[in-house]
Order: sequence, then C-alpha cells, then structure tokens
Amino acid sequence: MTDVAGSPVSVTSEPRVATGTTDVCDAKQFATLTFLRGGLIALGVTLAAGILAALYSVPAITPFMQSLGLDLRQLRPIHTTFATAWIFLGGAAVVYRFLEDIGGRATPGDRLRLRVQVLCWAAAGAGVIATLLLGITSGREYVGFHPIISVLIVVGWVCYLWNFYRVVGGSFWEQPVYVTMWGVGMVFFLYTFLEQHAYLLPQLFADPVQDLRVQWKATGTLVGSFNLFVYGTIVYIGEKMTGDKSYGHSKIAYALFAVGLLNSFTNFGHHSYHLPQSAAVNWISFIVSMTEITILARCITDVWCLMRDGSGEPNATKTAFNSAKWWTFAILFSSILISVPPLNSVIHGTYVVTGHAMGATIGIDSMVLLAAAFWLLKEFMEARDGAAPKFFASPSTRRRIIGLNVGVGALVVWLHVSGLTTGLTRMRFAPAEAYIPPAWLGAINGIMFAVTGFIALGFFDEVHKVLRRRAFGRFELPVERG
Ligand code: HEM
Repeated sequence: MTDVAGSPVSVTSEPRVATGTTDVCDAKQFATLTFLRGGLIALGVTLAAGILAALYSVPAITPFMQSLGLDLRQLRPIHTTFATAWIFLGGAAVVYRFLEDIGGRATPGDRLRLRVQVLCWAAAGAGVIATLLLGITSGREYVGFHPIISVLIVVGWVCYLWNFYRVVGGSFWEQPVYVTMWGVGMVFFLYTFLEQHAYLLPQLFADPVQDLRVQWKATGTLVGSFNLFVYGTIVYIGEKMTGDKSYGHSKIAYALFAVGLLNSFTNFGHHSYHLPQSAAVNWISFIVSMTEITILARCITDVWCLMRDGSGEPNATKTAFNSAKWWTFAILFSSILISVPPLNSVIHGTYVVTGHAMGATIGIDSMVLLAAAFWLLKEFMEARDGAAPKFFASPSTRRRIIGLNVGVGALVVWLHVSGLTTGLTRMRFAPAEAYIPPAWLGAINGIMFAVTGFIALGFFDEVHKVLRRRAFGRFELPVERG
C-alpha cells in the first residue's frame, strides 16, 4: 500500500486509465480502500459476535460460555456496534469514492484529517472490543460502550464531515440527491450521536420514561442517518453503472430523501408503543414509515431496471442489488404487519423484532453495501490491471450471493417463527403475571438459532472471502482515476 501523503493526482471525469507506471496513490483513493477494508473487518467482527451470541442461546452451551467470561451482555453490544460500524464504514468508502470524482488534489489539511479519522476510528473499534470483553459497558442500545470511546468516534466524524464539505463546499446545492443525502446524513449522525448520550445528564437518567423516550428518539434518528448513506449509495452506484445522471435529480429520489429525513424524527413512535404516548404519535410514525419503505421499494426497483441490460451475464453488483430489492419488499410486508397495534403487542420484545432488524440491516443495507463493495473493487482492479476482474462476473460469485440470501432468509424466518411462538404462548398470561417461556421453546430455539446462524455464517464467509482476498491484496494504484 502506498502512502497517504502521496503526490498530486490528476482527477478527471474521463473513464479510468490504467497507467501502470506509478506506485503513488492519492489520499482519497487510500481513503476509499481503507474504509472498505475497515467495513469488511467490522462485518467480520459482527459475524463472529453474532454466531457466539446465537450459540449462547443454546441452553447446554450457555454455562460453558459464561465460564469463559462470555455473556450476551457483551456479545450483543459488540455485534450491534460493529453491524452499525460496517454500514457507516461501507458508506464512507462510497463517499470517498465520490470525492475522487469531483476531485481536486487532496490538501495537506485533507490528509491530516483523514489520518486523524482513520486513527480515531481504529482506536475506537479496538477500544469497543477490549472494554466490552472486560465487561465495561454503558448498557445502552447501539452505544453499549463506555462514553469515552464516543469522543474518538466524534473526533473522527468531525474530520470526515470537514473533508466532505471542504470538497463539496459551494457546489453542494447543485449536486445530485445522493450528495444531499450524505451531507445531511453526516450532520444528522453527529447530532443524534450526541443525543444518544443524553442519559449522562442526571435529571434525564433519573426519569426512566423520559430516558426511554429520548433513547428511542435518538436511536430512530441514528437509523435514519445510516439509511441516508445507504440510499445515497443506491443512487450513486446506479448512476455510475448506467451512466444515467437523471435519476440523481429525479422527483422520486428527492421524495425518498425527504420522507427518509422526516421518518428519522417520527419513527421512534413505533418503538415506544408501550410508553404512555398519544395515539396520534403512533399513527404519524406508522404512516411516515410505510411511505418511506414504499418509496424505497420504488426507487430500488427503478435503479434495478436502469441497471438491467438483459444480457443475463453474471454481475456481482447487480445480483446483490437485486437481492436488496426483494428484501425491501419482504421487510415492507413484515413492517406493515408488526406495526398493527394488536399484532405489535403480541410480538413486542420477542425475536420477531430481532428478525425484523436483522432482515433490514442485512437484507437491505448490507446487500446494497456488498453491491457497492463489489463495484468499488472491480473499479480498482480494472484501473490497475486494465481488465475487469473475473470474480466480478463469475457464476460462482453469483451462487455465493444467492446462497447468502438463502442462509440469511433461513435465520430471519426462524427468528420470526420463534418470536411469534413466544408472543402467542405469552398471550395466555394476564398482564401482571410474569411470563416464563416453555422449556421446549428455549431448547428448540437455541438449536435452530445456532443451526440457521451457522448456515448464514457459512455463506457470509464465502462472500466475504471473495471481497477480502481482493481488498486486502497488494494495491499499487494508478494515478489516473476518473
Ligand atoms: C451469522 C450471522 C449472524 C448471526 C448468527 C446473528 C445473530 C444475532 C444475535 C444472536 C442477536 C441478538 C439477539 C438477542 O438479543 O438475543 C442479533 C441481533 C442483531 N443483529 Fe445479528 N447476527 C448475524 C449477522 C448480522 C449482520 C450481518 C447484521 C447487520 C449488518 C446483524 C444485525 C443485527 C442487529 C441490528 C441486531 C439487533 C436486533 C434487535 O434490535 O433486537 N446481524 N444477531
């Protein structure tokens, strides 16, 4: 890998040219590749913690894991923190790839901020694993680590935001919708991340209902901010693959941005049905969320239609993208069902919610990011070698992606079956009675969770292997990249 502080690079809007003459790499190219690698590492940690957490649910294995000092209270926050990190880092790789397009030379300030960003986030990642394994946790959803680590995340984030706005700067308003999505998502993340730490205020912490309200509001906005990165990625990759720039300025893409943003402020409602709140809040939340996912389904289908060339040739990006499209419809269907209040009261707090969250973050977010990762690596390798790499268009890569969908589908379906069974057996109890799940359910659930988890993990590893072999290979990048 060449140095970040490399020499000037000429960035043009022409197709990439493989010069093969230099080992100098621009800071932004370095950033694209580094965040892609970081995202793949985060995905690896997510998977490791996920399978350990699934094994933990097998009653015969739980005591053994506890004797090793491994507990769901550590594994779950490691899993969810790194799942979120994978989504943000994958998004950052795409954002830096875009910054290469609109180019200009990276200034010494850009390079310094990039170094700080990479170092802070790497230290934060290592810190999260180390402290959570030592049992140091905040106990909060999605920010389960010690708040001191949040300082590193924020410092890195400010550098990211600065680098983005320094390049996009004055042209922000003329840029396509994906730039608006990323630019707003960046500011939004910073705000919501700080809001997630409101529990550090003693007055708020002392009032559990208020604390839960703010926590869900902030978590809803966090999801909104990473959705903006994923939505931007859909439109950007679609544009790059088809050369059609009109979608980035279309009304429907702006509608997705606007409703996505609105939903970030309202989606807390359907996470807090159990808190005292007005029915109007529930309804607003329901209608806005349904509108967002419906528009998303339309956009993802539109971009998919633009990408389709009818050749039937295998193409890893298109296969992953097509998977995201089908997952979006499936999640839309399940969202409608679980948001209906009587049904929500049956499934609340069960594995149905876990299945739903994992179905959305894997099926939609991760499939879009995997599509982007395939495309980014193809671009790098094409520019380096002058020819498209075989892995990108091979039937075996396509089979691995399809297998991954089947594996994840099995895991998600099982979570729904298990959660629904919990909900239905729980209904037999009066509200004030403590619910004790039937022993057979715990036993079957543990085994099925582990079995479907291993199937999903096996296919994840197959796809991850294709990407990590290329991403962590030696890269001596050509200077000219458009
Ligand atoms: C081999 C693959 C995986 C396995 C076996 C697995 C397993 C698990 C387990 C055991 C939990 C905790 C359930 C509980 O609270 O008891 C969980 C939660 C979660 N997982 Fe995974 N996971 C996998 C992959 C992923 C990936 C790739 C992502 C996202 C990129 C992801 C996102 C999530 C999220 C968001 C939650 C929290 C759900 C909630 O709010 O209840 N998982 N997963």
